[in-house]
Amino acid sequence: MMESIKVGLLGCGTVGGGVLKVLEKNRQSIASKVGTYLEVTKVLVKDKNKKRNGVCLHATLTTDPDDILNDHEIQIVIEVMGGIEPAKEYILKALRQGKSVVTANKDVMAAYGKELFNTAATANVDLRFEASVAGGIPIIGPLKESLAGNQINKIMGIINGTTNFILSKMSKQGSDFHEVLAEAQRLGYAEADPTADIEGLDAARKIAILASIAFNSRVTFPDVFAEGISKISASDITYAKELGYVVKLLGIAQENQGEVEARVHPVFIPSSHPLANVDDVYNAIYIEGDAVGDAMFFGRGAGELPTASAVVGDLIAVAKNINKSSFDRTYCTCFEHKRIKPIREIVSKYYLRLTVKDRPGVLAGIASVFGNQEVSLASVIQKRRQDDLAEIVMITHRVKEANLQDALSIIKGLSSVVEINNVIRVEAGAE
Ligand code: NAP
Ligand code: HSE
Repeated sequence: MMESIKVGLLGCGTVGGGVLKVLEKNRQSIASKVGTYLEVTKVLVKDKNKKRNGVCLHATLTTDPDDILNDHEIQIVIEVMGGIEPAKEYILKALRQGKSVVTANKDVMAAYGKELFNTAATANVDLRFEASVAGGIPIIGPLKESLAGNQINKIMGIINGTTNFILSKMSKQGSDFHEVLAEAQRLGYAEADPTADIEGLDAARKIAILASIAFNSRVTFPDVFAEGISKISASDITYAKELGYVVKLLGIAQENQGEVEARVHPVFIPSSHPLANVDDVYNAIYIEGDAVGDAMFFGRGAGELPTASAVVGDLIAVAKNINKSSFDRTYCTCFEHKRIKPIREIVSKYYLRLTVKDRPGVLAGIASVFGNQEVSLASVIQKRRQDDLAEIVMITHRVKEANLQDALSIIKGLSSVVEINNVIRVEAGAE
């Protein structure tokens, strides 16, 4: 008879329910891999009277976290409640009580990872968090283990399914942002309050976690520049296509001469780039390493079973360690302290869309401001004319963001310029 390792589950929502389902369905094969059964003995929820069905209905529910955190039989705690508090407090308490922790919580990991790692190290227990970035896609394990021999130069990821769904639909249907957002909410892809997704905050937390691992230096959520997709219009997507690009919301982290860039914003990427064909709610992470070259990880970045897949994978790793009385704590590998570049210091190509008065000398005036700020234009196309107005689309050469923004603030004040409709960074690929 195999013994069992007792597990406490904090949260029985989408992910918690998925974890119970996977553990139930694959109970025997998981036990064979671990050498012991994994038994979830208690489950914390907020409201015990909430209507539930399936696996959560049959679990031993409690609303008192201490029922789990003070239970000496429980060796592993899975945190899938979400939010910062009280999740962070419960994770810390579990670690201090000598329990290993598996979490899917990007909010906590992106802001307080270091404190949690230090606590886990002091207590000699594991802390794993694969599900916190890109749901079911294995990316934290590969970065910390299989790719650990590389110097990672760059990570670019589609790491938010909701915004990828919206941009893909806008591209396929030619629809506007708000129309597709409403459709995504009807289909249950976008939350009732979609701010964290559409403003790039969810992706910013994820890229902070990936950048910290890739560059061995702490990058936290507030370090990441985040700009969302709410300003992307159907015209921007049409022009992108005409120019050979696709618009994606990317998390980008790269290291240059010992400095780290970490940012989330819409990007024009060449339609031939592997990320350009990642559509709908799918996620993908593209990595450039000095030994591996280019590698891409693709799959489902959210959802009950895909996310549970990552949580249960971590659970199995922790349980195996317990059985071998060893710990391979996925510690913070932040042994360096690299400066994080402010967004004004990054260098990129840019797409610009402006509405201007259609009269002689207007383009020359704009070009002169750009020239004075050392912004070099790669192409200028007058796209549409309506009444006495013209729409102009420009692509710049690579330029420092500060120069571009300074030029734009002067251009905005020109009497001939009606509106700067959009400014989108262009990922140029190898140049
Ligand atoms: P969810 O469906 O809202 O479930 C949250 C669960 O936690 C519920 O069972 C809730 O109890 C419980 N809970 C919340 N606050 C609590 C509190 N203060 N005390 C006790 N119980 C509390 O959330 P989810 O979608 O499963 O997400 C969980 C975590 O996984 C989050 O960190 C999220 O970012 C991460 N994640 C989710 C996905 C995904 O696809 N959903 C993907 C990747 C990562 P009640 O049931 O009583 O309300
Ligand atoms: N809301 C996220 C997304 C999933 O749309 O990708 C959870 O991280």
